[in-house]
Amino acid sequence: MIHEAKAYLESRTSLRPRLAVVLGSGLGGFADELSERVEIPYSEIPHWPVSTAIGHAGRLVIGKLDKLEVAIMSGRVHLYEGYTPAQVTFGVRVLGLLGVRALVITNAAGGINLTLERGGLVLLTDHINLQGANPLTGPNDDALGPRFPDMSDAYSKAYRETAKRVAQDLYIPLAEGVYAGLAGPSFETPAEIRYLRTIGADVVGMSTVPEVIVANHMGMRVLAISCVTNMAAGILPQKLTQEEVIEAGAMVRDTLVRFLKALLPALET
Ligand code: HPA
Repeated sequence: MIHEAKAYLESRTSLRPRLAVVLGSGLGGFADELSERVEIPYSEIPHWPVSTAIGHAGRLVIGKLDKLEVAIMSGRVHLYEGYTPAQVTFGVRVLGLLGVRALVITNAAGGINLTLERGGLVLLTDHINLQGANPLTGPNDDALGPRFPDMSDAYSKAYRETAKRVAQDLYIPLAEGVYAGLAGPSFETPAEIRYLRTIGADVVGMSTVPEVIVANHMGMRVLAISCVTNMAAGILPQKLTQEEVIEAGAMVRDTLVRFLKALLPALET
C-alpha cells in the first residue's frame, strides 16, 4: 500500500524532497510559504488515512522554500481517532520511500514542567511512549529498517544544536524537554500529570511518538517541536478544552512559521 501511494505522489510532482515537515493541531499555516507547490488532499492519495480531528486540514503539500524542496503534511491522524499504528505512520513511511531523510514534527502539547508557559515552544530531546502501541509491532520489513531500531538519538542531537542556534539568532525563546506520548483522547487527570512529571516528562501530547519511531526505523533524522497550548491538568484552576488548544496554536503560528523558514535550510540532509 505504501508503494502505491509513493507511485501516485511521483506521478503528481517531479520534486523529490529530502526534508518533510508534519504540522500539528492548528499549526497548518506554514504550507502557504512554499512556491511551485502541489497541494494534494489526503483523500486523493491511495490508502492515505484522512483525519477527523478539528484543526487538521488534511493535505500533503510539496513545493519549494527558496531552492529547498520540502514536503509538508498538513494534518495527521491519531490513535484516538481509531486508526491503527500502521495508519498513523502511513504518511511518514510513504515520505521515507519517496526519499525523505529528515523529518521535522510539530505538535500541540500540554505543559507539565512548571517553568513552561502557554504559547511557548519546546524542542523535544526524547520521548516516553505510554500509548500502549508501537507501529513496529508485527513482522519486520527488513527492506524498510531493522527489527530492533536504536532510539538513543531518536531526536537528532545534531539537529537540536542547529535548532537552538537558529532560535537564538531569531530571538525565539526555545525550551527543551521530554515528551510523554499518551493515547488520549481524554486529557490526563491531575494525578497522571504528577506521575508524568515524576518520571521525567516535561510536555504531554497524543501524537508524534509513532511517527518518530517509524522515522528512526527508516534511518531518518528527526527534529520535533511542541507548542505548549495549555498547562497540563491540575496545574491551573481551570478545565482543559480543545478551544484553548486551537487558540494557542493560532497564537504561535507566526513565530513557528518564522522559525521553520530559517530552520529548514539549516538542516543537513
Ligand atoms: N494533554 C494531552 N495532549 C494535549 C494537551 C494536553 O494537555 N494539550 C494539547 N495536546
